[in-house]
Order: sequence, then C-alpha cells, then structure tokens
Amino acid sequence: MQDGRTTLSKFLIDTLDRQPCASTQGMAGLSALLIDVAAAIKSISAMLTKGALGGHYGSAQTVNTHGEEQKKLDVATNEIFVQQCEWDGLLAAMVSEEMEDVYAIPSGYPRGEYLLAFDPLDGSSNIDINGVVGSIFSVLRTRDPADSAATESADESANEAAFLRPGCEQVAAGYAVYGPSTMLVLSVGNGTHGFTLERDIGNFVLTHSNIRIPDDTAEFAINASNERFWEPPVRRYVQECKDGRSGCRARDFNMRWIASMVAEVHRILMRGGVFMYPRDSKTPAMEGRLRLLYEANPMSFLIEQAGGLAITGRERILDVRPHALHGRVPVILGSKNEVERIARYHGEYDRGEDKPFTSPLFGTRSLFLPDFTA
Ligand code: F6P
Repeated sequence: MQDGRTTLSKFLIDTLDRQPCASTQGMAGLSALLIDVAAAIKSISAMLTKGALGGHYGSAQTVNTHGEEQKKLDVATNEIFVQQCEWDGLLAAMVSEEMEDVYAIPSGYPRGEYLLAFDPLDGSSNIDINGVVGSIFSVLRTRDPADSAATESADESANEAAFLRPGCEQVAAGYAVYGPSTMLVLSVGNGTHGFTLERDIGNFVLTHSNIRIPDDTAEFAINASNERFWEPPVRRYVQECKDGRSGCRARDFNMRWIASMVAEVHRILMRGGVFMYPRDSKTPAMEGRLRLLYEANPMSFLIEQAGGLAITGRERILDVRPHALHGRVPVILGSKNEVERIARYHGEYDRGEDKPFTSPLFGTRSLFLPDFTA
C-alpha cells in the first residue's frame, strides 16, 4: 500500500475484508466499526478546530467517575463517540472514561460482536492552552467465534466482565492526535500505521505505514514534579539519564513532558523515547495514574506492534488482568532497550541488589521478576 494515496477505507478493506477467512475468523465488521470511530474523530477534530469560538470551552459543572471535573468538551466528545458508534449493529457495548458504567447498545439498535473502550479527550487540561490533545480507543470481541456464540446472551456480552480481559486480546487499537494536523494511528495486529486527515476532502490518508520505534533513544518523558513519590528503580533510571555524559550512561539525555499521553506516545512512535507514568506513593490507593482499559492497553498494543515495549515496571501491560472498568496501572513504554533496562532496575530493586536506591517510602519488595529479554 502506498503512502500518500491509500485512504483508511482502502487500507481496511485490503487488510481485513479481503483476507480469505475474514468472516469465519470473526473479523467481519471490524473495518466498518473502525470507519465509525474515524467518523467520530473527524467530528471531534472539526469541533476542536473552532477553539474558543465553538462554545465548548469551560466546565460542564459535572464530575466524572474518577472525581475529576468534566469539561464541556469531555462531555461533547463522549457524545460524539457514542452517537457515531451505537447504531451500526457492530457493537455490543462501550466503556468510556466519561461514563461510570458499561453503556449497552440501546434495544432499538441491532447488537454486534465488538466492545469499544475509549477515552474521548485525553490530555484535556491542554484544551485551555490550545495544546495537543487526543482520543484513544481499544476494540475487543465479545467472544471467540469458536466458542458457543449461540449460548451467550445479549446481557452477558454487554456487562462489565466482558471488558475485563487482558490487552493482548485486543483486535484493534488506536488514537487520534489533534495537533497542527489531525492524525489517526491504528493497529489491527499487523503493525502500526498512521493516517493524516486531508481536511478539504475529509479522508484519512495513509502517510506513515509500518511505523518502527528505534530500539535506542536518548529522550525520556516523566512528570518530574512527582520525583519524591517514585519508587527507587525509577529514581535510579531518571538520575542516570540526568547525569548524562559524566554519569554511567556516558551520554546526554533530553527530557520532554506535554501532559498528554497521546502526544507523548505519538512522539515516541515518530522518533523513539521512553514515557513513564510509574507507580508512586502520592496516592497509595492507586496503582498508577493511567487507566488500563482505554489508555494503557491500546497504547501498549500500538507500541508493541511498532517494535517497542510497554510494562508496569514488573509485568508486560498487555498481560495485566483488569479488575475494574476504570482500574489504573503504572505505565512505562517506548524504545525497547531503555524499557528493558528499567525492567531490570525494578528486578534488581526487588531482589535487594540496588542498596543505594532503597527507599523507606516503598517498604515492600516484589519477588516477581519477568524476563523481558526472552
Ligand atoms: O489522563 C491522563 C493524562 O492527562 C495523560 O494524558 C497525561 O500523560 C497525564 O494525565 C498528565 O499527568 P500530569 O497532570 O501529572 O502531568
């Protein structure tokens, strides 16, 4: 497929619909669903482009399920996703950062076999400063077609448990980044591909096929104001980067923080790097800051499909078994060799091999150490 000429629809037809066993493998309808998602993204892009003139700035005077104040745009973009995707007979249910419970497809519409989890407006604190924001989405199938499809009732396919599956079961994932141009970055399990919105015509056009993340990098992204709350292995890694040429890494590193996960992941897909929102002791009840189902999982899928790695520090994110719709997880992702190094630092800390970095803030050591080099 040719960059600059292939539209999203053509890409999806060639990648999914023209595969010999598309329908028997249960992938029928996935391309149509992704086109619905792309339509939602185009509407959101048009809305955001209007900026303060669109009448969508400011607070919605409501609070979401995480106790965060919802902005008018959070509510409006959530509505756009729901309305574009609910009617087409492709979905059984949806989950969104902006909705507390599972949204089952209303009985007036036909039900399909896919489940959509999404964050309609990621990084929304950037809205007021006209900064980069995004939308993130993840697609699961309600069941394996080899399973007893006939015995699963509509209620079972649309309840909370249907969504509580590890990210390695995703059949598609992607994000939109609303920057100077709007891009849709997508994977259906055959690499990560980027499409740029041609605004005059309204098509997403393939511009970045088969994105590959360099294994090595000298750039990291983390909210450094949380340093005192980090675990020792993360403090060790960041300190070594900051030591630069005169430290044990023997080279200078650069740091970036945009406060928008979509923008950080996009940069990493374009030129490499590491993004961290690690476990910290700031809010002990929370495992991490980012949500597993509609932030960490889809981004990890895209990163792995582009040759990078995504871990919690101690476990591959795509293997984490979710316990709650809006559950959180620590996230460390990006260039393979750096993420492997951070995994090793967690292992050394857990085994007590890094005494100078042992902190009273984190008294417990995990004995679990994955082998990311396997
Ligand atoms: O909702 C998550 C998010 O907005 C991410 O997009 C971003 O990476 C992070 O939170 C920013 O966090 P902080 O406010 O700590 O900079």
